[in-house]
Amino acid sequence: MSVYGIYFSPTGSTEKIVKLIAGKFGDYEAVDLSRRDSEEKINFSEEDVCIVGVPSYGGRVPGAALERMKSFKGNQAKAVLTVVYGNRAYEDTLIELEDYLVERNFCCTAAIAAVAEHSIMHQFAAGRPDAKDKKELALYGEKIFHKIKDGQGCENIELPGKRPYKEYKGVPLKPSVKKQCTKCGACVQLCPVGAIPEAAPDTVDKDKCISCMRCIAVCPNKARVVNRVKLNVASMAMKKNCSNRKENELFL
Ligand SMILES: Cc1cc2nc3c(=O)[nH]c(=O)nc-3n(C[C@H](O)[C@H](O)[C@H](O)COP(=O)(O)O)c2cc1C
Repeated sequence: MSVYGIYFSPTGSTEKIVKLIAGKFGDYEAVDLSRRDSEEKINFSEEDVCIVGVPSYGGRVPGAALERMKSFKGNQAKAVLTVVYGNRAYEDTLIELEDYLVERNFCCTAAIAAVAEHSIMHQFAAGRPDAKDKKELALYGEKIFHKIKDGQGCENIELPGKRPYKEYKGVPLKPSVKKQCTKCGACVQLCPVGAIPEAAPDTVDKDKCISCMRCIAVCPNKARVVNRVKLNVASMAMKKNCSNRKENELFL
């Protein structure tokens, strides 16, 4: 059995959580779908276990993550679906991920919805996953490991969400560039969708940008920012839904 920790994780929370779960299986291979230069693992086999993690964007799987997985061939490999969200809601993200992987011949054997700090509005779920989350997620990983080891790996699970999926209209918050930008190019390489041109690293192609906030997270000079006023307006609108602590969930 080979284990893969596969994640699309522009600001690192999904990666952290996928690695925590995959680590419970022993050695695993990491597949980073957010890197445009990542080596793509495509063909899996029935004995393989794939922990597949995506963040929820507007209650959906980010289109860029789906695009990176479009050539996957599951060949009945077991998939552990992992959706990470910023304490608002994940709505149709789990079923969309399930449908996508079943279509590619994976067997979805377990799923997790986990809360992490909101990557745009950092005051929501600030500091999560925290110690309590990590303990809980480690326990989920052990339970999933035992389910698969006991040979009960291959029946699909019941997940929340509705079909047709909720429409995703995008987020109108695109990072802009401040004068501290030294054109070092870190964000050019690491933008998951190539929205920052190599020839002009102090700009952004707003049509390509998916508002994932990776450029802000990786900029060594803090030269990328989202508009404060727009951020405050969005934060006020989300406050009621995002402020109460939501708990992680395991579907086995
Ligand atoms: C464009 C965008 C849309 C998001 N939409 C939602 C959402 O609908 N519900 C929610 O709870 N969190 C939402 N979030 C927060 C992320 O799901 C959350 O912060 C996640 O941990 C980010 O994963 P990452 O650190 O791996 O990039 C959104 C974040 C971004 C950037």
